[in-house]
Amino acid sequence: MRALTGIQSSGKLHLGNYFGMLKPALELQNKNAETYLFIADYHALTTIQAAETLRENISEIALDALSCGLDPAKTAFYRQSDVPEVLELAWLLSVVTPMGLLERCHSYKDKLARGIPPNHGLFAYPVLMAADILAVQADVVPVGQDQKQHVEVTRDIAIKFNNLFGEIFKIPEPFIKKDVAVVPGIDGQKMSKSYNNTIKVFTTQDELRKTVMRIVTDSKTVADKKDPDKCNVFALYKLFAAKDKCDQMADRYRNGGIGYGDVKKELAELIWQYFAPARARREQLQSDPGGVERILRAGAEKARPVIQNTLKRARKAVGLE
Ligand code: ADP
Ligand code: TRP
Repeated sequence: MRALTGIQSSGKLHLGNYFGMLKPALELQNKNAETYLFIADYHALTTIQAAETLRENISEIALDALSCGLDPAKTAFYRQSDVPEVLELAWLLSVVTPMGLLERCHSYKDKLARGIPPNHGLFAYPVLMAADILAVQADVVPVGQDQKQHVEVTRDIAIKFNNLFGEIFKIPEPFIKKDVAVVPGIDGQKMSKSYNNTIKVFTTQDELRKTVMRIVTDSKTVADKKDPDKCNVFALYKLFAAKDKCDQMADRYRNGGIGYGDVKKELAELIWQYFAPARARREQLQSDPGGVERILRAGAEKARPVIQNTLKRARKAVGLE
């Protein structure tokens, strides 16, 4: 089985990215799926239009993924822009993509609603994403719920292309883990960089504690009985604590006698411990920036022939060769 996913270089890795996308992708990597993971820097350009910030974000996200357990011996880890063939493939897909398909995309509409200027790249974003996926002939695409529609658009485009020009592309499936499809942010909405409600994976212990203490709860007192399933703190707690600990905590909620402040303190400690090995790896990697660059180059060398091969077949199918 072949898995591919991408992450935009548009900010710091947060718990939503980690549990919704990175961890499931790394689990596939460790189950010996043929895994491709890339930094979607062309995509990031649709919103980050400052060279130094983009460059910095690319190195940061590369460090983040490697620190969290991406193994470059098992996963082709590359920068999207190191394989520019995807852009040509995106054009071949673009000419069979109905406008209506893109006009219906929630992600585009959300971005406009947030005041991002509607440039053409933003509108065409899902076509480039389709090219990323179809170029490696991925079977599955590990993503959070918010990207499901983009994978469905990819499927529609691939089916249309195959009908017109012959069976060139494999039709991919989204790979979405139910429990972590939408990780809540500290305000209870989906955790997202754009909502300013994230808990960052790599941060100082002090900042982590402060952010966790800001998680929004209802105003029940320590003595009150509480519903764990309606609590943002508990939703995050479940991602870190073992099953028996979660059951115990759920009982303490239901019986009353525990305050949100205490649960938050425990949660901050759990998060800090959970990422301790990743922090240690990050420090090591940071001491050798050339090493990260070499990994990305080698990843591109691994992915590029596969992508070139698909492009060649697609060019031939449409009559360019
Ligand atoms: P953001 O919404 O913070 O900008 P990205 O768009 O960079 O996040 O998302 C990168 C990956 O992480 C995508 O696969 C996305 O579906 C996943 N993801 C982001 N936020 C969450 C979340 N809150 N819950 C689950 N998955 C998420
Ligand atoms: N759109 C994805 C996001 O914002 C990033 C991405 C680009 C991607 N190309 C992809 C994800 C291909 C999966 C497959 O998170």
